Amino acid sequence: MPQLHWWQEGVIYQIYPLSFQDSNGDGKGDLQGIASRLDYLQRLGVDAIWLSPIYPSPMADFGYDVSNYTDVNPVFGTLADFDHLIAEAHRRGLRLLLDLVPNHTSDQHPWFHESRRSRDNPKRAWYIWKDGSPNRPPNNWLSVFGGSAWEWDSQTGQCYYHAFLKEQPDLNWRNPEVQQAMLDAIKFWLERGVDGFRIDVIWHLIKDSLFRDNPTNPHYTPDQSPYLSLLTTYSADRPEVHDVIKRIRDLVEGYKDRLLLGEIYLPVEKAVAYYGAEGSGLHLPFNFQLIQLPWEAAAIRRAIDDYERVLPANGWPNWVLDNHDKPRIASRIGGDQARVAAMLLLTLRGTPTIYYGEEIGMTNTVISPDQVRDTREIRQPGRGRDPVRTPMQWTGRPNAAFTIGSPWLPVNPNYPAINVEAECEDPRSMLALYRRLIQLRRAEPALTRGSFRSFAAPKGMISYLREAEGKRFLIALNLTSQAQTLAMQGMCGRIILSTRLDGDGRPVADSLTLSPDEGQVIEVPGT
Ligand code: GLC
Repeated sequence: MPQLHWWQEGVIYQIYPLSFQDSNGDGKGDLQGIASRLDYLQRLGVDAIWLSPIYPSPMADFGYDVSNYTDVNPVFGTLADFDHLIAEAHRRGLRLLLDLVPNHTSDQHPWFHESRRSRDNPKRAWYIWKDGSPNRPPNNWLSVFGGSAWEWDSQTGQCYYHAFLKEQPDLNWRNPEVQQAMLDAIKFWLERGVDGFRIDVIWHLIKDSLFRDNPTNPHYTPDQSPYLSLLTTYSADRPEVHDVIKRIRDLVEGYKDRLLLGEIYLPVEKAVAYYGAEGSGLHLPFNFQLIQLPWEAAAIRRAIDDYERVLPANGWPNWVLDNHDKPRIASRIGGDQARVAAMLLLTLRGTPTIYYGEEIGMTNTVISPDQVRDTREIRQPGRGRDPVRTPMQWTGRPNAAFTIGSPWLPVNPNYPAINVEAECEDPRSMLALYRRLIQLRRAEPALTRGSFRSFAAPKGMISYLREAEGKRFLIALNLTSQAQTLAMQGMCGRIILSTRLDGDGRPVADSLTLSPDEGQVIEVPGT
């Protein structure tokens, strides 16, 4: 097998900068705070950090509304702080990825100020303006955050399109000037040494040139977000999107070893098209199946096999359990199964991404009405994302040592038990498990570059083999709360790691017994 890129063997760690570590007592995390925690990340064993947006922003969508692509939001610090952070990360062998938000800007971006000034402004065509009226939008497209995706602008008598909040007007990516401006911003950060980008809602970049109405979704059920009542046939995932992604890729190819990781919520057969023809697209289109599927062995087993089957020849897989938009895994499936999920994430073939706090078992936080920050919660009660964005829990001291001030979102009251310091001292903690899994992955090429093969397992279990360079591992995961037995099909071996962090080295022959909610990695002779 050829030499792998760092991002194929590595583990990515997502930081939500507002919530990781505050250094100046304003209750909001910042770059100096992150720099002060790099030793922790190095010890955890991850290879790269992805920072959710750090650019200047009015924070209508907490940084996903950018008002300047080439600077740092004063809330987080300065460009000098950024340079310090990247230097310190690189000194420790950690890569740094930024979040790029190319689909839309803030309505406070100077480009939009100009664009909305008059119909003949040179920047008018940088955004998507259409005729309509206050009560009759140009078409039926919906905003992800509720209501029509069109906002009436009385000053110029037209509507502009916003896939998200009205404070986030979509850029017109069919305009070469827009493409060039964004490429310039990307170049700015590449020159500063960033190791790549996670690209926000990349499948949205290009819209139908005829702006046709989206069709009704025949499978919609009213418990779903109203946005899903229509298919996004014409508002997203248009074929020409691959041309603009290729332009970004071509730019990035001019630099050594950089990574493009793209956010794509599409069925997996469609998402893999984002690797691009002959690998001219993203290095990693995010694979969100473990976030979206019910936590059931049969469904997940099928999804893993299907994904392996539809991946293009050189498409490298990736996996993720949660992120800043989705429920925390420990809340979704419970703390015991979250350990099984960790073993799955870190032993599957492909690059894993960990969301900050996942490694200590952080759970969703109850947010009282007066603490709500995410406007999505106000627009669509129950769909807000504050519960998964609360401060990192470092110690049992006040505010979990996240801040000496008043935290921007409440610290989860479970912090006296769930925190880094306590878990460092507990050899069986979630943190201990994540560290062991990451170490094992680093030590065993079978778990990174190795082949993947499903292994027959009883109902409620997932099992597979990973193999490289004459070494082979059987991974057996019990997704139920009953003990399970797995037939070893003539193999024997020894337990290398259990999610319970006991019994290492025990021999296994004929059959393997798993406790409720247990996962095991077993070394078996190679073929
Ligand atoms: C992505 C981000 C999300 C944001 C949205 C609009 O889905 O992950 O947090 O609200 O894009 O930028």
